[in-house]
Amino acid sequence: MLDLCRASSHKRKSGKQQIPNLGESTMSFATLLLLIGTVLADTTVQIEGSDYIDLGLQGFGYAPANARDKYGDTISFGSSVKYQKGSLKQTDDGYYTFITYNLPDRGWNVNGTVNFANRLYKYQVTLNPANESSTPNIEWTYLDSILLKDFNGNYFTGLDANTTVEMNGFSLPGVTYHGDGWGNNLNSNSTTTRACMDSEALALIEGDIANGFWISDEYGPGIYRFDSNGQLQEYITAPDSILPYVDGKINFSSNSCPAWDQYTVSDPTSGREDNHGYEGMDLSPNGKTLFALLQSAAMQEGGDKKKYAYNARLMKYDLSGGSATAVGEYVIVLPTYVNPSDGKTKTAAQSELLYVTDDVVMVLPRDSGLGRGQEDGTESVYRHVDLYSLKNATNILGKYDGEGDQIASSKGKLVSGITAATHYEWIDINDNTQLNKYGVHNGGDNNSTLLNEKWEGLTLIPIPCTTDEYFLLAVSDNDFTTTNGWMNFGTIPFDSGDDFENQSLMWRVKLAAIPHNEGSCSSTSSSNSSTLATSTSSTYANSTAATATLLNNTVNTTNINTKTFSNSTSSFTDTLSSTTQTPFGNSTTSYHNGSTNSLKTVTCTLEKCSDTYSASDIDQTATTVEIITSCKGGCSKKSQETSTAETAIHTSTSAVVSTYEGHAASTSVSAMTVYALAIAVMVYLL
Ligand SMILES: *[C@@H]1O[C@H](CO)[C@@H](O)[C@H](O)[C@H]1NC(C)=O
Ligand SMILES: *[C@@H]1O[C@H](CO)[C@@H](O)[C@H](O)[C@H]1NC(C)=O
Ligand SMILES: *[C@@H]1O[C@H](CO)[C@@H](O)[C@H](O)[C@H]1NC(C)=O
Ligand SMILES: *[C@@H]1O[C@H](CO)[C@@H](O)[C@H](O)[C@H]1NC(C)=O
Ligand SMILES: *[C@@H]1O[C@H](CO)[C@@H](O)[C@H](O)[C@H]1NC(C)=O
Ligand SMILES: *[C@@H]1O[C@H](CO)[C@@H](O)[C@H](O)[C@H]1NC(C)=O
Ligand SMILES: *[C@@H]1O[C@H](CO)[C@@H](O)[C@H](O)[C@H]1NC(C)=O
Ligand SMILES: *[C@@H]1O[C@H](CO)[C@@H](O)[C@H](O)[C@H]1NC(C)=O
Repeated sequence: MLDLCRASSHKRKSGKQQIPNLGESTMSFATLLLLIGTVLADTTVQIEGSDYIDLGLQGFGYAPANARDKYGDTISFGSSVKYQKGSLKQTDDGYYTFITYNLPDRGWNVNGTVNFANRLYKYQVTLNPANESSTPNIEWTYLDSILLKDFNGNYFTGLDANTTVEMNGFSLPGVTYHGDGWGNNLNSNSTTTRACMDSEALALIEGDIANGFWISDEYGPGIYRFDSNGQLQEYITAPDSILPYVDGKINFSSNSCPAWDQYTVSDPTSGREDNHGYEGMDLSPNGKTLFALLQSAAMQEGGDKKKYAYNARLMKYDLSGGSATAVGEYVIVLPTYVNPSDGKTKTAAQSELLYVTDDVVMVLPRDSGLGRGQEDGTESVYRHVDLYSLKNATNILGKYDGEGDQIASSKGKLVSGITAATHYEWIDINDNTQLNKYGVHNGGDNNSTLLNEKWEGLTLIPIPCTTDEYFLLAVSDNDFTTTNGWMNFGTIPFDSGDDFENQSLMWRVKLAAIPHNEGSCSSTSSSNSSTLATSTSSTYANSTAATATLLNNTVNTTNINTKTFSNSTSSFTDTLSSTTQTPFGNSTTSYHNGSTNSLKTVTCTLEKCSDTYSASDIDQTATTVEIITSCKGGCSKKSQETSTAETAIHTSTSAVVSTYEGHAASTSVSAMTVYALAIAVMVYLL
């Protein structure tokens, strides 16, 4: 690869090895339930009394390196990603689907920056929770693109900035070029001026593309608000301490010239380092608070020395008025790591930020030069999703915001009186115990299952039927690396000399600090059972030949799913016919008589869980028979089971399906009078 005037858009670093805590929790339900334990491997961090629990990796997927969007251009989907609120659906076969918007970088820039029209991509993502082993279980389907336009309706460009354009009262990074911006007609007397964007982070307003979105960039570094059509509405400029000054003048260039016009621009004397702008930016769910975080320290406080570049400025804006108002500025101390190839200590610059609360942010610091396609080595030593609390951090807004003002010495020593945010190491992306479940690895052979270098996008997806669990989806940026690339609306081919698929990873996490109510545990029923299971406990009453389908009933590690048939005097069949339940763990189903006796216990792998119960399996005199299914062994997942046929006790006087959540759950099985419950077909999620 050619490296023309440092065209490659990211350089980051970082490292310590985290040893995950292996927690084991076992719970039992007293009352009438027989229990079934739950074993779970987790990494838990507690901040101000709230637990942040990593329930483990749940998925891995690829997107092809040579995919093209509707404008004919090669796609690179991983600088940022955001979940479209409300889009999560579960299919009958236990898959999840949802919509994301993904932000590419400033275009293919291996051979210098190019006149790429910045844009967003819309994807449908499918997660198949059924196949725990080996093959990828996250699929990406490209749906659409939204081109970004400045105040005048012109496209943005990924070209390096060499001027400032004034528009609607804002000063944006821009470029003035001769010819077509691709190196043709350079002798033309006419020039074109475009706003430049090196896009790195995306946030949908109130989680919904319909409200528009914000994008942060590295040239300004700036923060742009667009409407849902990609039309620019507002711009937030950085304080002078962060703006790139070269010898007393603002110069937005990142010294990343196009291949056809080579030049060198000096590094900024103060402000953001070249190509280290607002890599992280996110909004609160109500759209009123915005955080933006520099990738690493500003130049005047260690930014040009990898070893000392760890004091990163975090800006906080209040958007509740007509325009953005800065209300906070804090110091995030990024981790450092020892680079294995040269033994040098470097800063793990950050690639993404997520808003958690007004006091807590999630940050993705990582090393660089290590991983798929990289020359330094295959084993990354620091790639994390970490947490930072601002609770005790000093708000330095306005105190060090002039040109060249320092919050730290050039060797990274913080000015006295400044307390940085509290750092908590959390998820280790490089954990091979987790990665190997999906056939991918960190370190080892330099092959297609080696993790990519650049993990840059994170988003949280609320899991229905839980109050505080989320999928945490991470995407990697492959920087348009393909041997079959196209740009300029499909008219100019390019070849990176290699193909790196975009990779994605998904964890399940439990965040007590941010309860959600997205997605209902809805259920549908047919036949005579009309009001089944819209809550976590349902009663099937007066069901004659009823067929019930219970959907979206997520049972996490602390849940139990119980079906009770009262006054059973005959045989019934319980068939879990579905195939795919891994990676979500095994389940155990017990049949007993409502006291302490288990009549029959079946442990299912749920690859296939099927059993038939005869009358002899049931206490014929029992007034209650409970069927308990619970997750076992890290069953943080759900899902599955395509059909359960229960030919239950035709003489039952009642049947109850209950889901009990949490350790404190108690049962209140109501015995409604039922004359017959013949068949209930249930789909439930474990
Ligand atoms: C499930 O895994 C097996 C190998 O373990 C693989 O052959 C199969 O294609 C996978 N199925 C899906 C749907 O990914
Ligand atoms: C930045 O510096 C370069 C080289 O000195 C110069 O060509 C360019 O015009 C400057 N840009 C701005 C916005 O001043
Ligand atoms: C800005 O950069 C473009 C592309 O490198 C170049 O064609 C143009 O001459 C530059 N303009 C100025 C004012 O430096
Ligand atoms: C550009 O302008 C110069 C001076 O006005 C003129 O001599 C030249 O012919 C023009 N070039 C083109 C390609 O129009
Ligand atoms: C890089 O760009 C230059 C100038 O546009 C071009 O001549 C060259 O073929 C390009 N190299 C590659 C590998 O695309
Ligand atoms: C890994 O392979 C790629 C080519 O696919 C190469 O560019 C890179 O240098 C290799 N890295 C190592 C550490 O061998
Ligand atoms: C804030 O400081 C208090 C008092 O020292 C301490 O108890 C608390 O744990 C700190 N919280 C964080 C998030 O750092
Ligand atoms: C890729 O490398 C890993 C780790 O070294 C190894 O386990 C795996 O078998 C390799 N895969 C292929 C397809 O060579």
